[in-house]
Amino acid sequence: MIKAVRGTRDLLPPDTETWNRVEAKVRDVFERYNFHEIRTPVFEDTALFARGVGEETDIVSKEMFTWEDKARAQSEKSQQLTLRPENTAGVVRAYIEHKLGQSGALQKLYYIGPQFRRERPQKGRYRQFFQIGAEVIGPPTSGSESPSRDAEIIEMLATLLEDVGLTGWTLFINSVGDANCRPAYNEALRVALATVKDRMCGDCQRRAETNPLRVLDCKVPEDQPIIDALPKIGDYLDDACRAHFTAVRAMLDKVGVPYTVNPRMVRGLDYYTRTTFEFTHGELGAQSAVLGGGRYDGLSEALDGPKAPGIGFAIGEDRLIMALQASQPAAVLTIDAYVAPLGPNTNAEALGICRKLRRQGLKVELGDESFRLKKSFEAAERAGARFIVICGENEVTNNEFSVKHLATGEQVSVARAELAIYIRNHGVKKPGGEHTAPDDLQ
Ligand code: HAM
Repeated sequence: MIKAVRGTRDLLPPDTETWNRVEAKVRDVFERYNFHEIRTPVFEDTALFARGVGEETDIVSKEMFTWEDKARAQSEKSQQLTLRPENTAGVVRAYIEHKLGQSGALQKLYYIGPQFRRERPQKGRYRQFFQIGAEVIGPPTSGSESPSRDAEIIEMLATLLEDVGLTGWTLFINSVGDANCRPAYNEALRVALATVKDRMCGDCQRRAETNPLRVLDCKVPEDQPIIDALPKIGDYLDDACRAHFTAVRAMLDKVGVPYTVNPRMVRGLDYYTRTTFEFTHGELGAQSAVLGGGRYDGLSEALDGPKAPGIGFAIGEDRLIMALQASQPAAVLTIDAYVAPLGPNTNAEALGICRKLRRQGLKVELGDESFRLKKSFEAAERAGARFIVICGENEVTNNEFSVKHLATGEQVSVARAELAIYIRNHGVKKPGGEHTAPDDLQ
């Protein structure tokens, strides 16, 4: 038997109901904050991630699905391609390629889609996973550098998580400095690491030389006390970075978004400057980050684009859903009515009734005339139907259909023209015995 590849999974109903509900809510939030959707390709030139995310990051050095796309004609060149491990680099590439900065307006873009990382699969960690992300990017004149953007994005996330129904999260923030003050911090790290790196893992030993900041991403338990004792980025911020971070925190305080400063959080991707943040949730176990993000003021230039400061985030949708499902009952699939053809040549009649009811906006399932009454009832129950509509030969002749409310067992005869109204109205009767109809159907 061929199975889904390790680290990938099928999302099945009724879980997909939850995924769709979350995505609809999220789109609604993005719209209110004036974000617009961008869809970038699922694979890109490998160089985009090597240069954007950084050669020494775990993502680029260990986790990418990369292959050589061999030339198929003399006129073509072979290319190294990679399944996107994240979407920020792709969005910034598109920003540069389509000159989105030219209008001078701030670009507020969001995406929902699969990402790919060759990590060791475990709970909350997959090789194909989904991100819901957003990026705010533009020329400095658009206000893209303002700490207001950072605070607004973090405030939006608090609103978004509330709207989808996630409570109990913790927000960690930090500042990782910028091109001006980071070199001094890197040097301080290098000096501190020189005396301790021999006691650390192989990755740390290498990174101590090549990219000391990435030592802080290390997850090896024995290395943690050594890392905790290293110099803190917060002590090396220059005045501008310090003022930026103070302003972001003051705005979060003002709007009442609670946070904790985590001076060790440098977020595993090289493009970050200044503000970084992560929301974690206790239900998620070891993979506790529901989402992460930060500012990347130099990314566009690193990809040969114009100066275009930006900030963004990505929610791990798989983890968000997992945290939601831990606190909410599973979605139950229901329909309004099950239409049961009974007897020869009733299938077409039943399909006609379904068509009419569906066009009135009702959720309806169609049975089959080969079913007996008992089997039709069983199928209706299994489909989660509120009503069963019996479509037998007599009913068709009289243009009156038996409609049974499955929960109460109440059964009435309803004229064809009244079926949608009756079902929509839950079969609630007015005292006079007439069926009430909602306004839109009257
Ligand atoms: P990231 O922290 O690498 O950031 O990923 C963001 C989120 O994606 C994580 O917090 C986690 O919830 C989820 N995630 C990552 N890897 C996996 C996995 N293997 N399985 C399941 N979920 C996973 C970024 O990707 C940045 N592009 C975020 C960003 C946008 N920064 C600025 N703009």
